[in-house]
Amino acid sequence: MIKRILITTIALALLLTSFARADEGMWIPLLLNKYNYADMQAKGLKLSADDIFSINHASLKDAVVIFGGGCTGELISNQGLLITNHHCGYGSIQSHSSLDHDYLTNGFWSMSKEEELVNKGLTVTFLVSMADVTDKVLNGITEDMEESKRQELISETIKQIVADATEGTHYTAVVKPFFAGNEYYLFVNEVYKDVRLVGAPPSAIGKFGGDTDNWMWPRHTGDFSMFRIYADKDNNPAEYSPDNVPYKPKKFFPISLNGVKKGDFTMVYGYPGRTQEHLTSYAVKMITEVSNPAKINIRENILDIMNADMNADPKVRIQYASKNARVSNSWKKWIGENRGLKRLHAIEKKEQLEKEFLNWVSKDKDRREKNSNILNYYRKIYEEMQPYQLAIDYFFEAGWSMELIRFAKNFKVFTNLSDTSTTEDIEKAKQKMRNAADAFFKNYNMPTDRKIFSKVFLGLYYNNVPKEFQPDIFRTIEKKFKGNTIAAKFAKYEESLYTKSFFINQEKLNKFIDNYKVKNNKKIEKDPAFVLYNSLVDLYLNKLSKPYQDFNNQLHKLDRQWIKLLREMESDKVFYPDANFTLRVHYGQVEDYYPRDGVYYDYYTTLDGIIEKDNPDIYDYRVPEKLKQLYYKKDFGQYAEDGKIHVCFTATNHTTGGNSGSPVINGNGELIGINFDRNWEGTMSDIMYDPDMCRNITLDIRYCLFLIDKFAGATHLINEMNLVR
Ligand code: ARG
Ligand code: GLU
Repeated sequence: MIKRILITTIALALLLTSFARADEGMWIPLLLNKYNYADMQAKGLKLSADDIFSINHASLKDAVVIFGGGCTGELISNQGLLITNHHCGYGSIQSHSSLDHDYLTNGFWSMSKEEELVNKGLTVTFLVSMADVTDKVLNGITEDMEESKRQELISETIKQIVADATEGTHYTAVVKPFFAGNEYYLFVNEVYKDVRLVGAPPSAIGKFGGDTDNWMWPRHTGDFSMFRIYADKDNNPAEYSPDNVPYKPKKFFPISLNGVKKGDFTMVYGYPGRTQEHLTSYAVKMITEVSNPAKINIRENILDIMNADMNADPKVRIQYASKNARVSNSWKKWIGENRGLKRLHAIEKKEQLEKEFLNWVSKDKDRREKNSNILNYYRKIYEEMQPYQLAIDYFFEAGWSMELIRFAKNFKVFTNLSDTSTTEDIEKAKQKMRNAADAFFKNYNMPTDRKIFSKVFLGLYYNNVPKEFQPDIFRTIEKKFKGNTIAAKFAKYEESLYTKSFFINQEKLNKFIDNYKVKNNKKIEKDPAFVLYNSLVDLYLNKLSKPYQDFNNQLHKLDRQWIKLLREMESDKVFYPDANFTLRVHYGQVEDYYPRDGVYYDYYTTLDGIIEKDNPDIYDYRVPEKLKQLYYKKDFGQYAEDGKIHVCFTATNHTTGGNSGSPVINGNGELIGINFDRNWEGTMSDIMYDPDMCRNITLDIRYCLFLIDKFAGATHLINEMNLVR
């Protein structure tokens, strides 16, 4: 700390902000006692560190799960009842929905356990234990080792560690790198496989505001859904069986009816997916000036087409709801990220840190000799990598933008078969293809796909990427299709693709599948959609993946050194590892903010705001009649505060994607809400956190309770919970 007083005033300003950044960070639960506990206590935590995380006795960690593959969920009753976001349960809710039972539109509430719906493939994952295994993993690894050799050795060791950790148990395990591979931790997990849908509000509540309000504050989305975990009679994980019984958790959250006030302690406990807080200025430049703008532009074009078609046809709206949400979510986030990084002067701040770093390195002979070049290496790699990064971004965003190509990929299950395949293999493949075809056609609107293909693939991809990084199909079109201009050739190609591919004709395709024989693979291989798919695969395998991987290997090595050195340089600061989808604790406080000059945003919203937004002409803002009735009758039960139903609130917890569904907890360890989003002004927190601007958005648990009880009449679920005042 003292050394730094010597440095420039800008650095001093930076230093001051680093004091104010107390709420930044996503912390390792195992290390709370060592690094965070005193601070947490000072801010209002009443629990012990052991209450939050212990591997010896039940602690809050036993009430937090990975929900599905990318969300968090939490237990809220002693009968395995679980709550998460509506957007996390969306796939399950959709899979049970049909025109007769449209649970997405109408909501779904089981009035007894018998009515709960089974979800094939849905799992929840409990953390059993975690341990620092750095020494084991890095045993025998040296710094001068080839990066690929290093990775190879490490993955062998990890395999062994995982095998040892799970031997003789029904557990699974993973080992994950922390601090760019300076440290490694082992996670032993228990996966439950019978998870049933219990309840979900209609989308007009669970997705209220839609993509218009997504990433935005003030917010009024009732983003929750409920599930129940089932176990065998010994409380162990089991595949679905009607004999399974509700899981008895080691721990579940009591639920607070007291709400929150500005400044209150809040803790989020969950699974943040990915952050990159230690990027150099060169990386931030590449992201903000090359990658994000390219991806934003591509998605904007896709969204324009989808939105127009969805607005024109209610059937297309349903078909493309989920696809549109997926494309729109990151698109909007990247826009916010770029704006936030610019406003924060992120590149200049990084450059300043880099100056400080060079200064620090130069003061020690050994350090100088070993490390004074690291930033030059970084600069060089990012310079050389930039065209590849752009090619990769276009490959994934524009290359795969067409649905037909993504569908074509499925036909590999046939082309992978050969004369030696058994009848059973063939039957399996046919069934797989039938399922894939059903899923595809259910939500496919050819004209929409074709417009996207024309605009994005034949347009943006062709025009914005150098020829050397384009798929060969473009050369074929140039040579083989007639026309004076490339536009004319493209038009011919497009026409032939969409009329000749038999992948697109559901009837023909079903016949093909039913009569499939291995010798029919020729027909697949000649299909223009499959040719197109192969052309993309070839591009990736022959021109992109190897160099891109090489750059990344070099970066892995540099990142490891860079973070290690930064930690040495700022030895009095506690570093938190970047998010890597492992369990973390985030803590901060309920807080309002000023999004821009002259504008103040309060920290909570209420049902009044939902009624304010109500507009039957705007799809995202249609308020269900029943909710309006409850509002006008003020039929709020025990869930109101000063006569109002609170809906959402903001706090300073440093969260990211994956934290959706995470429990938001007060100082007593009671559930006060469910995390579901961040504010647009703060989405740059994946790269740089700003205490003035970054807020996580929480659904007030009392709004959920009100909906369950008063709106859905599922009071039996409320009775299962432990509500506290
Ligand atoms: N922005 C939130 C998150 O990143 C909510 C996403 C829900 N999807 C949507 N497109 N509205 O996941
Ligand atoms: N909605 C995000 C998710 O699904 C959480 C929001 C964020 O990125 O912070 O995980």
